[in-house]
Amino acid sequence: AEGDAAAGEKVFKKCKACHAVGEGAKNKVGPELNAIVGRPIASIEGFKYSKSMIEFGADGKVWDEETLVAYLTKPKAVVPKTKMAFAGLRKEKDRDNILAYLKQFQ
Ligand code: HEM
Repeated sequence: AEGDAAAGEKVFKKCKACHAVGEGAKNKVGPELNAIVGRPIASIEGFKYSKSMIEFGADGKVWDEETLVAYLTKPKAVVPKTKMAFAGLRKEKDRDNILAYLKQFQ
């Protein structure tokens, strides 16, 4: 379903301890998330990704919407040894909304 970016901004509170997005966003515990849809996986210069994430992004694979939503649903189901310490967004509505929010920073 089509997400609501304003509602997604609230969901992003769950990510904020580790991620920044928007103008001037810097890497924190996790990489900055600007232009994440379509961005090559594990591609931020100077961010130390897990081996698991680097392998997942081999051959220039990108975060298309489907892959991104799957990762946010249950990170370890998609990237088994990801170092992202986050259980995932269990509600489909939260996932739709956060996707709408993140797409504002393309
Ligand atoms: C990686 C999104 C929550 C820490 C990533 C990536 C995305 C993402 C898209 C891959 C980025 C890339 O390939 O450059 C999100 C969203 C969150 C969230 C939308 C909230 C719903 C968190 C939290 C933490 C965290 C709470 C810290 C406790 C990390 C780390 C990585 C990462 C360390 C690198 C993973 C690795 O190399 O295996 N996140 N994240 N994230 N995130 Fe998150």
